[in-house]
Amino acid sequence: MKTPVRVAVTGAAGQISYSLLPRIADGSMFGAQQPVILQLLEVPVEKAMKALEGVAMELHDCAFPLLHDLILTDDPKQAFKDANWCLLVGAKPRGPGMERADLLKDNGKIFTTQGSIIDEVAAEDARIAVVGNPANTNAMIAASKARRLPAERFTAMVRLDENRARTMLAHRAGARCSDVSDIFIFGNHSPTMFPAFGHAKIKGAPAVDAIKDRSWLEFDFCEKVGKRGAAIIAARGSSSAASAANALVDHVRDLSTPGKIHSVAVKSMGHYGFSPDVWAGMPVKTTAPGTYEIITGVELDEFAKSKIAATNKELVEERSMVADLIG
Ligand code: NAD
Ligand code: LMR
Repeated sequence: MKTPVRVAVTGAAGQISYSLLPRIADGSMFGAQQPVILQLLEVPVEKAMKALEGVAMELHDCAFPLLHDLILTDDPKQAFKDANWCLLVGAKPRGPGMERADLLKDNGKIFTTQGSIIDEVAAEDARIAVVGNPANTNAMIAASKARRLPAERFTAMVRLDENRARTMLAHRAGARCSDVSDIFIFGNHSPTMFPAFGHAKIKGAPAVDAIKDRSWLEFDFCEKVGKRGAAIIAARGSSSAASAANALVDHVRDLSTPGKIHSVAVKSMGHYGFSPDVWAGMPVKTTAPGTYEIITGVELDEFAKSKIAATNKELVEERSMVADLIG
């Protein structure tokens, strides 16, 4: 029997976690042979902790063979203690009419505290994935507090955007989403993000040839991917949850699987013209479990460069909005 992986999940009584936790405990994230210990964090408020107890009851009632232990806590030091993965979901979601950056002032502070505590108590090999919005900038804030863990261990999720883009291309081409490959998200998890359709393939052929409508790709497609979160809020009355949980399963599973190429928001290091210190979506290749290299060879035309400049500008603006929280 393998040693269990310790997975800390924040916001564990929230919407996303309700879909996420069973997928971790049933082996979807780390594989069918990998036991897990879930270390679940909520805010120190009676209602939230009571709801968390209910979530734990349901997890027990699933009788998942891989779930070796469940820790419920409102103490971040206990939640992150020895954690191999820290999944930072807990944060306020936006409502109708808001942009994700509007959450910065409320949510940014959460990631200063959690970044410091993770750095202090998490496992030597800890990896951190940020979902709470605005995810890119929150990952940057958390990483800025780390002295022991290197910045590349802190990633933010743009996989939901990749999955959305994949399905939209498939539908437009009359294909299946499994027929679409090489669709990567550049930049911020916001309407400025750039789903780089120029490299996408459908059944191995360029998507631009299969779709034969550049105007749809440049305008409708980019806008629909960028504003999908708002469309879901308008339809459901609350933000995406099941698809966000599914994307986090994909994000962590693919970061744990050598050879996988996928979109992740990482410290840009100046690649693709991004400011070096912002966290930007880009394609990475997993080289060993939890370790990746940025794929640098993607060629960009003038349209792509202008889209990346716009999303970089927004990331730089977000960074300056939280200057007092960094470092
Ligand atoms: P939710 O309100 O249903 O749940 C959030 C939970 O986090 C709540 O239970 C709350 O008590 C808890 N929480 C708040 N502050 C906390 C803290 N400091 N420590 C621990 N727990 C804390 O929200 P949700 O729908 O689950 O969404 C969570 C976040 O994920 C939001 O910011 C949302 O915008 C974001 N999100 C991101 C993506 C993405 O693709 N990156 C997709 C969907 C949602
Ligand atoms: C999403 O993309 O669905 C999430 O980031 C939630 C939101 O606020 O759009």
